Amino acid sequence: MMRIASRIHDYSVHFEEGLDFLARLDGFFVVDANVLRLHGLSALGALDRDRLLPFTAEENAKALANVEEVWDRLLARGVRRNGTLVSIGGGIVQDVTGFAAATLYRGIRWVYVPTTLLAQADSCIGAKTSLNYGGYKNLIGTFYPPHEVHICPAFLSTLSEADFCSGLGEVIKLHLMGGAELTARLTAEMERVRRREPRAVLEAIRRSLEVKIGYFEGDEFDSGRRNLLNFGHCFGHALEASSEFAIPHGQAVLIGILFANRIAVKRGLLAEQTARALEEDLLIASLVVRPTARHLDTARILDAFRRDKKRTGPGLPLVMMAERHAMLQVDDLDAEQVALATGELAARLCA
Ligand SMILES: NC(=O)c1ccc[n+]([C@@H]2O[C@H](COP(=O)([O-])OP(=O)(O)OC[C@H]3O[C@@H](n4cnc5c(N)ncnc54)[C@H](O)[C@@H]3O)[C@@H](O)[C@H]2O)c1
Repeated sequence: MMRIASRIHDYSVHFEEGLDFLARLDGFFVVDANVLRLHGLSALGALDRDRLLPFTAEENAKALANVEEVWDRLLARGVRRNGTLVSIGGGIVQDVTGFAAATLYRGIRWVYVPTTLLAQADSCIGAKTSLNYGGYKNLIGTFYPPHEVHICPAFLSTLSEADFCSGLGEVIKLHLMGGAELTARLTAEMERVRRREPRAVLEAIRRSLEVKIGYFEGDEFDSGRRNLLNFGHCFGHALEASSEFAIPHGQAVLIGILFANRIAVKRGLLAEQTARALEEDLLIASLVVRPTARHLDTARILDAFRRDKKRTGPGLPLVMMAERHAMLQVDDLDAEQVALATGELAARLCA
């Protein structure tokens, strides 16, 4: 069990071997419809229909209308301030139900059971909930952690290869941010993780969460050190947009790390040799979706980079890793540097 300190409320993360723990959970359940179908969830079979809302997890479901549906169902059941919402699913279910739990009565008890690798190894902690709005992703949100998180890698057996590898991108990012030793360990265990061996996956998840805690505890509201968790995301978001989301999030993050490493080499922060070794042993080896030349078209990337809603100054922001895995953020990236590194990436990845 892990305990996480939060300015909102402290919470606990429990590691579960099988699905028996579900029988001990009580409250109103929102469950990813695919998870319900694939795992049967017999422990939930006895639930009255008015205690269970199957949820279709699509990106456009992260909308206020779906939050309203959760509020309505909770209110119809007479849920009061001391009621509990249990949600089972990936990041989409997490974002919608977390927002609903944070806002009903200004916060009801919320138990979250993540079912994707991304949610288990990354998003389930850190307290962010986000909705899409006005054509922008994650524009509206709250900080509100679950009261309890239950991680059970058994859910991952049914995850599509694309979704598993997307989660793997965040796992790799967090290991890189955790230092050389953790990175070497993940590299050595990567084959077992890719085969989804439960012990190897569980250990990779546990290590990822420990690293993430180290970056947000004490900076829960995104003001300084926590921003470093955007490693790979500055370019990654631009690539997701320029590929019209053909490149899954975590895979775009891996390419974003390749990009950041190239800039770090050009600025003399990272040795060429270190960048090349990481590229070959871990980063390119974990890419299952390759970008096309159109996805890496400089004009499209720059346009998406400039429209990043988190940008506040004239220069472009970038989180980089320096030698000895030291993390830093700059805000002075210019179009010429972006174009040069994007061109190099296109030559390396789109051949
Ligand atoms: N709040 C945060 O801190 C945070 C952090 C990162 C990402 N996110 C958000 O998370 C979302 C992505 O979430 P995700 O990648 O976890 O997946 P997801 O919720 O988008 O689900 C992806 C697909 O996997 C299916 N699925 C879920 N669990 C499954 C299982 N065990 N077996 C088979 N299929 C399963 C879903 O039905 C869906 O079709 C994005 O909207 C992103 O913005 C939120």
